[in-house]
Formats: sequence, C-alpha cells, structure tokens
Amino acid sequence: MTTHVDIDNAIVPILEAAMRAPSSHNTQPWRFRVDDATIHLYADRTRALPVNDPDDRELAISCGCALLHLRIAAAAEGLLPQAHLLPDPADPDLLATVSFLPAGDELTPDASLAEFIDHRHTYRKRFEPRQIPEQVLDGLVEAAKTEGAALHLLSTEDLRHQVAQLVAEGDAALWANPSWRRELAAWMHPRRRGDGLTLPWLTGPLTQMVVRTFDMGEGQGAKDRQIADESPVLAVLTTSGDAQKDWLLAGQSLARLLLQACRHNIQASFLNQPIEIPALRPKLQHLIGAAGFPQMVIRLGYIDARLPVTPRRQLYEVMDAHSQSR
Ligand SMILES: Cc1cc2nc3c(=O)[nH]c(=O)nc-3n(C[C@H](O)[C@H](O)[C@H](O)COP(=O)(O)O)c2cc1C
Repeated sequence: MTTHVDIDNAIVPILEAAMRAPSSHNTQPWRFRVDDATIHLYADRTRALPVNDPDDRELAISCGCALLHLRIAAAAEGLLPQAHLLPDPADPDLLATVSFLPAGDELTPDASLAEFIDHRHTYRKRFEPRQIPEQVLDGLVEAAKTEGAALHLLSTEDLRHQVAQLVAEGDAALWANPSWRRELAAWMHPRRRGDGLTLPWLTGPLTQMVVRTFDMGEGQGAKDRQIADESPVLAVLTTSGDAQKDWLLAGQSLARLLLQACRHNIQASFLNQPIEIPALRPKLQHLIGAAGFPQMVIRLGYIDARLPVTPRRQLYEVMDAHSQSR
C-alpha cells in the first residue's frame, strides 16, 4: 500500500522544475493536476504540432522530459517519487501519475541533479573544439539506459558525416513544405508570451514572415550539416518500441542525460530532421545499426557562453482548475 506524504510545501518548486523541461518548439505541451498528494501529468494536445509531429511523438517526449524534471525536483525536496506511466488505458492524455514517499534521512542521488535544471539550455551554435572525455560519455550513456532508452554515440567520422548528410536532406524536405514553415512561424513568439521560439532562434535575424514565405532549406541544411559535422559528439537516442510509453521513456532518458551533461558544463541541441521525415528515419536507423527506433539526434559539446533563459508560461497556466482550488 502507498502511504501518501504531504507535498503542499514542495508542489510549487516541483512543478516549476517540470516546466523548465525542454519541449519541441518550446510548446510546453503539458498540464498538471494535483489531487490527494498525487501529481497527474496530462498531454496538452491543443499545443501539438500536427505538421512537424503528426503522431504527437515529440509531444510525448517533451512530457517525458517534464516528468523527469519533476522526479528530480521531488528528490531534492526529500521525497521519493513513484511514477506510473499511462495509468488509465481509457485516458491516453493522462501520461503519468506521480505519488510520493518520504525519502528517509538522506537525499537520494537524484537530488544532486536538481541544481542543473536552471542551467540546462538548448545551445544551437558551435561548441568549443574540446573533446568530451570517455568517462563523461559513459555517464551519459548510463543516464539514458537508467530511464529505458539507449544513447548511440556516432564514433567514426564517416558515420557522423553520413548522419550530417541526412540532417541536410531532412532540412530540405521540411523547409520545402509550406505547411511546416507556417507552423514554425506560428510558434515564433515575442519573449513575453512565455512560450515558443524567441527571435532570433536560428542564428540569423529571421522574421516570421521570412520563415513563412521562403524555402530556406538549402541554406539551413548546409549550416546544420556543418554544425553536425563539427560537433564534438553526435549521438542518437533510441527506444526498443515506438509507442506512447516508449516516447515517455525517451523523454525521461533525454532529460536525465541532459542534466548529467550539464554537470560537466556540456550542453546540447537537436538535429531531428532525419527522424521527422518518415522516409529518412529508416535510413538513420540503418546507419547507426541499432535495433531500436531513433527518437532524437543529439549534438553535445562544451560551451563558453552564458545563455539567456528561454521563456516559460506561468504555473497557473498549466494547472488544472481542480488543483488551483486546493
Ligand atoms: C522532443 C524535442 C524535440 C526538439 N527538436 C528540436 C529541433 O529539431 N531543433 C532545435 O533546434 N531544437 C529542438 N528542440 C529544443 C527546443 O526547441 C527547446 O527545448 C525549447 O525551445 C526550449 O528551450 P531550452 O531547451 O533552452 O529550455 C527539441 C526539444 C524537444 C524536447
């Protein structure tokens, strides 16, 4: 039997940490309900990206990231989170419930990752040309494995080059699609909105109008290919299945490895184009020679810059009414 603990004092820091999770186009596609000392995490499909992510795969990965942040923050509050994925088969939007036990006298090792939640950022520019030591990379592979996914490091230059080529092909296909460009432009928001991609998120001064109107696939592809080629580490996160549960595992794995990376002053960005274009995903899978399904293409490296914090909505905007009346 689960003994519930009082989480009233911890709920705000826990949910604020969850909201700092990365999400596709910074859509923050989550909602939370707090009920009987249990947090319910829902998918907010009103914030889906039907062109970029027609199956809500990245949406579920994003929510998986929020779930991992939530669990880490709970550990830092002296709690032992008990997460249940997809607890109600009749409600596919209820992605997880998390109840809590007291952690005992000592904080669990997860608590030590909490301080990196505010320091993790997506870094899309060039990394420092320093290599990442094997031991640190092993820690990232282990972090992904702990949460049920696998991180494949692309070890040869030839392999990295071929994946970089797929990224460029993916860029060309995405940018050639006016609906995809319109959807991207619709999520380019001023900072005060609290969500979306603030300008300039691509390194150039792109306005919404430019993104909506022009196919910049060639230029973006060339840039992304170079960025992929030059990254100290290029890796692919895979899962053994490709359903909602696997996507939640991928998200938790991703968030854990990103926080673990941050511990070493390493940041990441994503080049998911070969996964977002259905015809390219099997090619990527074949290239990495993995049995699993590619979920994220990740580049990692050291950075020598302080990054502006990306915007988030307010807590009250992601809480269900029932919770607010507590
Ligand atoms: C599932 C997922 C997919 C993403 N895909 C991309 C991507 O293809 N390109 C990119 O530049 N950023 C991508 N991102 C990063 C988000 O844009 C970023 O997390 C969001 O803008 C918030 O910024 P932050 O990570 O700095 O907090 C992705 C993030 C997630 C969780």
